[in-house]
Amino acid sequence: MEQQQLAIVLEQGLAELSSTKTIPELEQVKSRYLGKSGQISSLMQQIKSIAPESRKDFGAKVNALKNEFEIALDERKKHIIQLEMEQSLLNETIDVTLSGRGISLGTLHPVTLSLQRMIRIFNTLGFSVQDGPEIETDYYNFEALNFPQNHPARAMQDTFFTEKLSVLRTHTSPIQIRFAEANPPPIKIIAPGRVYRVDMDRTHSPMFHQLEGLWIDKDISFANLKGVLIQFLRTFFAKEDLQVRFRASFFPFTEPSAEIDIMDDNGRWLEVAGCGMVHPNVLKSMNIDSKIYTGFAFGLGIDRFTMLRYNINDLRLIFDNELDFLEQFRGQA
Ligand code: FA5
Ligand code: MG
Repeated sequence: MEQQQLAIVLEQGLAELSSTKTIPELEQVKSRYLGKSGQISSLMQQIKSIAPESRKDFGAKVNALKNEFEIALDERKKHIIQLEMEQSLLNETIDVTLSGRGISLGTLHPVTLSLQRMIRIFNTLGFSVQDGPEIETDYYNFEALNFPQNHPARAMQDTFFTEKLSVLRTHTSPIQIRFAEANPPPIKIIAPGRVYRVDMDRTHSPMFHQLEGLWIDKDISFANLKGVLIQFLRTFFAKEDLQVRFRASFFPFTEPSAEIDIMDDNGRWLEVAGCGMVHPNVLKSMNIDSKIYTGFAFGLGIDRFTMLRYNINDLRLIFDNELDFLEQFRGQA
């Protein structure tokens, strides 16, 4: 009878143990059997009330049962820990066969697109591309370009001064001088780059881009200037009926001088370039004989061209680099 009772308790206990899946569940089963009023604990209590002749035998059997239960409990615990570890490893597995997220390619900045387009067009017209420093000396930025010392014309360009006699170049025109000093005519170059002025509104930025042009040879006239620039403008904007005007102007380094305005989609004139015939004083600082050679020069505002080409109504958008803005130029040329 007692024998049977013990066997049932053990069988039940082992069955409950083997159905546990978590440590908390296991702890519950443990307390049902080994806790203060647990089934095995009550059997232990019963030992002392058993008749003396069978007490020893009963006690040994209860102890064996308890032992067996504890061993099973221990094994189940190890098993659950093992399972939990395997499960967490499984959850953290990286499936290397999954396809990737894809690489998102950047886009070319609209100013870069405009510049590339300008270079292509001027290359076909026979101009080569040159470069120069962004920190310039007073001499190249002003003096050699026929801005006399203390001449009010220097105030036309709101200059950032760096150190004594050094400036952030206010235009790309100093590249004209640097190139001509090192290369005798004929000269036929363009020179794009960043320039700096104390200037900021809807159509002015403190850092912006210009593209300088210089063509010096025998018999170069204002007619050549107009021919080259009009052809360039029509090609750049791919527009035969483009509204262009050459407006008489003044630059110390050209004579005569003009500024070029283009009409935007809203009927507003936007100044996009300055130009003129190279001043004899400038030819002199280039060491070029103005009795033999003449030439013309121009400076385009690349950002303004970009505004017109892509119908951008505020120059500052070009420099904010908002991704939503830049994304619009994907695939453009
Ligand atoms: C010049 O800088 C002359 N060096 C151009 C030149 C070169 C004339 C060779 C004659 C011979 P200007 O300051 O006007 O000129 O600037 C030229 C162009 O740069 C302007 O027509 C305009 O399109 C652009 N520009 C000028 N200031 C800004 C600015 N703050 N932000 C954006 N574009 C500007
Ligand atoms: Mg101007």
